[in-house]
Amino acid sequence: MLNLFLKKNKLFHLNKCYHQFSSSSLIKGIWKTNETKPRCFHTSRSQQSLILGIETSCDDTGAAIVDSKGNIIGEALHSQLQTHLAMGGIIPPIARDLHIQNISQIVETALQNANLEVKDLDAIAATVKPGMPLSLVVGTEFAKQLCKTWNVPFIPIHHMEAHALTARMVEKVDFPFLVLLVSGGHCLLAVAKNVDEFLLLGESVDSAPGEVLDKVARRLKLRNMPAFSTLSGGKAIEMLATQGDVTSFEYGNQPMFKYNDCSFSFTGLREKVYKHIGREEIIHNTEADQVLPSAANLCASFQHALFSHICRRLQRGMHYVDMKQMIPEGPRKLVVSGGVACNDYFRKYLSIICAEMGYTLVCPPPKLCTDNGIMIAWNGMEKWTAGIGIAKNADDIDAIDIEPKAKLGVDMTEDVRNMNISLKKKWIKLLPKKVNVSQ
Ligand code: KG4
Ligand code: ZN
Repeated sequence: MLNLFLKKNKLFHLNKCYHQFSSSSLIKGIWKTNETKPRCFHTSRSQQSLILGIETSCDDTGAAIVDSKGNIIGEALHSQLQTHLAMGGIIPPIARDLHIQNISQIVETALQNANLEVKDLDAIAATVKPGMPLSLVVGTEFAKQLCKTWNVPFIPIHHMEAHALTARMVEKVDFPFLVLLVSGGHCLLAVAKNVDEFLLLGESVDSAPGEVLDKVARRLKLRNMPAFSTLSGGKAIEMLATQGDVTSFEYGNQPMFKYNDCSFSFTGLREKVYKHIGREEIIHNTEADQVLPSAANLCASFQHALFSHICRRLQRGMHYVDMKQMIPEGPRKLVVSGGVACNDYFRKYLSIICAEMGYTLVCPPPKLCTDNGIMIAWNGMEKWTAGIGIAKNADDIDAIDIEPKAKLGVDMTEDVRNMNISLKKKWIKLLPKKVNVSQ
């Protein structure tokens, strides 16, 4: 079987053409070779539904099988991080080619780890929106072809809905709850009312926090420090910031401080930190590729400015939820996920906000915060259990297409803005002592 997979991967590599790989005969040939093998289930598993999830919306090729109880039966992940770090950012055609090269092997490995075959699955879920079009199409078409070949239902998944609901796989989180998603492609605040019902309170009007962290890490040349050479920009900044002083560089007014809503903005902060870096480079007369002696201070103060901004908008969102009685009083939960939610410093700020506002903070483990196949499989399982959004026959499956841009749920951002919630002196302090930086 592996040989056939490799043969197919070679084909992908040579042709670099998704039409080639979406040919149903190709998939049939490969996946039917194991048909005669006996099914191998543990008896305890036999009553459980099994969903395969496939993720290729950005730069991770992920696959996983979960059961109805949220057990991860098998999983595999190929990260493109090292390639993109070397290239200085994600180049969409390269991301697509790497997905094409790896998808068969990743799905096969997940199934092998689970001791399962495609015909044992109840359904296959794949991210179809939002994301990079060239990347989305690889996982979507691969999953659709598998479904049609094996007569298995297909469940199209919204990547951000999947991030939002992952927490429910590991912890009891009942609807409705508040959810903050912070990643390399998004920053948004929403109320999750149900598996497929979300109210969007605010989102970024420009760049995403992870994207900005990655750019700042590159501008600071953190890759030239051996300890950080293989880390994502956000992780590198978090680690270096532990040695820095949050008060060392000024950021002035909060982004969008004149707008009493829950929208976010990060491009202005990025420009401010670039200015600080430029000035420091002149002061220290640094050579190309040299890391500034003040890099730790720059990281600490920038991270503080970025996370303070997110927390301010979050606090306003919590007041809005109270005023509109969107989440019943009592043990309310804030779920925070997406790659940037791995940041411990950010989690500390979030705990302060939650403690003051009467929320319990729920962050999935870091492995589930970043992109992976598990969250897609779990979202598929939630939909499967609820009987929502399942394409059962070839015509329905064919009708599903990728959507590179897709909002999360019903857009309430204008209503939030119209409420004009001004908090002035009610802002929750995030730093332990009074310091000379804007909070
Ligand atoms: O959710 P994710 O895996 O991919 C999407 O963007 O959808 O998030 C990746 C982002 C990257 O920008 C990365 O720099 C950031 O998450 N990230 C972090 C940390 N770990 C990953 N940002 C801050 N602190 C971290 N520890
Ligand atoms: Zn993501």
